[in-house]
Amino acid sequence: MTALTLSTSSAATLRADAVVIGVAKGEHKKNGDTTPVIALGAEAVDEAFGGKLATILETLGASGGEGEVTKLPAPDGVKAPLVLAVGLGEAPAKGEPYGPEVLRRAAGAAARALAGTKKGGFALPVDGDVEAVAAVAEGALLGAYAFTEFRSGDGGKGNGDKGKDKGKKARRNDNGEPLAEVAVLGAKPRDKAHKAAAERASVLAEEVARARDLVNTPPNALNPKSFAEQAQAAGKEHGLKVEVLDEKMLAKGGYGGLVGVGQGSQNPPRLVRLSYTHPKAKKSLALIGKGITYDSGGISLKPAGHNETMKCDMSGAAAVFAAVVAAARLGLKVNITGWLALAENMPSGSAIRPGDVLTMYSGKTVEVLNTDAEGRLVLADALTRASEDSPDALVNVATLTGAMVVALGHRTFGIMSNDDAFRTQVHETAEEAGEQSWPLPMPTELRKAMDSPVADIANIGERMGGGLSAGLFLKEFVPEDTPWAHLDIAGPAFNESAPFGYTPKGGTGSAVRTLVRLAERTADGELG
Ligand code: BES
Ligand code: MN
Ligand code: ZN
Repeated sequence: MTALTLSTSSAATLRADAVVIGVAKGEHKKNGDTTPVIALGAEAVDEAFGGKLATILETLGASGGEGEVTKLPAPDGVKAPLVLAVGLGEAPAKGEPYGPEVLRRAAGAAARALAGTKKGGFALPVDGDVEAVAAVAEGALLGAYAFTEFRSGDGGKGNGDKGKDKGKKARRNDNGEPLAEVAVLGAKPRDKAHKAAAERASVLAEEVARARDLVNTPPNALNPKSFAEQAQAAGKEHGLKVEVLDEKMLAKGGYGGLVGVGQGSQNPPRLVRLSYTHPKAKKSLALIGKGITYDSGGISLKPAGHNETMKCDMSGAAAVFAAVVAAARLGLKVNITGWLALAENMPSGSAIRPGDVLTMYSGKTVEVLNTDAEGRLVLADALTRASEDSPDALVNVATLTGAMVVALGHRTFGIMSNDDAFRTQVHETAEEAGEQSWPLPMPTELRKAMDSPVADIANIGERMGGGLSAGLFLKEFVPEDTPWAHLDIAGPAFNESAPFGYTPKGGTGSAVRTLVRLAERTADGELG
């Protein structure tokens, strides 16, 4: 993992392989471009350029636009051989600080552009502010990510350039490995709050990386059993209690949803319970993740073009797993139980058929009209089971519906809830964490289309508003008096487009930071 240090060094004197500075949009020119303006923190670097850095950047075509990256060789007077100017977008009003998400994204874009470099010094406009320092640290660490486990050759194990080079030559990692060391300048390394922020940023980034790695792992290398084994190993390492129900125990326990969805696969289902407790905890939180390690659709098979990325269908479980470990590592004063509802949805002679009726763990019966609406089936069982522990709140996370992607796009997750105030709190919490989300309703008129002539409920309803129907379905398995939120992360969980900000291609670790922030706020007595 990328190492993090806080530094009071000047951007000019820092020993590093690259120094990152910020550049904002200045004047709007006639042709629609903007002139770049050097941001706070880069004074010493600008001085070494003879005060001409803005002009030089403009000559190179820089405009200060968000995420724009311009690399230039450092002049004498700057110790690092490379200067990287990263765009911050529109500058805030005079005297106002940059928002944390702007800094996070800029630092992330810079860190990505420095893949293959050993040490980067980040001289962005933080001005000693702990929140800003945290944002830069988080963004840089989140941007310094690569998934190389399945590359052949030396991929991922590069040992870098160990030669002692006294000249001004950037030391490089082999194989374009992520930036190995991040130094945040303008920070206060001896300040307690700054130290805590750095520690939190490292834990967050590492746990987001855990979730991303799990999502990126191909489905022939991650199945319910191996996922559960990873949870057991991490539990041992971080002092969590981990219980795993295998397919026999699930059948015996009456987990009709998990057993039904998993029965078509050679890789049987698992239900994992991870619990973290703090002796001084006053509140408890249950987190439930959809963990379909591969979603082929089952007998209602997905067509080509819709199944290539369906290894991402365990992103909810990955987020829950990572968040519980993060809470433990941060020692939060809250009790958290994480539930991973793990199954592989495959078509076969033993698979559930459209028309089958399942008896769920709750005792309710479900007519499976579409085997591709499997997430709600495994989640329903996990929600019922999680409720038995009487947590103060329930939050489930799932790549549940394509309809949610149609509604909110690829960067925003939807939030549904049985409690409007709680839904608002979760939305605000996501915003604080730097994740885009939006509250959605669960209109009761959509329930009627899920009436079944043979069972208590069918697993699909109207096509229109499909994401909301899925939420309504889950609601049937949640106690009415417990605040519950359903996060549909089908859009942001997996990035099929180009990387942006601190978000890589592939698994993104969506919802991890929101869940951790939710745990923190619960621990601080701000929720529930
Ligand atoms: N895992 C999918 C949803 C999904 C779609 C996740 C796109 C990520 C990206 C889910 O199991 C599914 O197939 N949902 C169906 C439900 C439908 C049959 C009611 C869907 O959205 O088409
Ligand atoms: Mn499906
Ligand atoms: Zn699915």
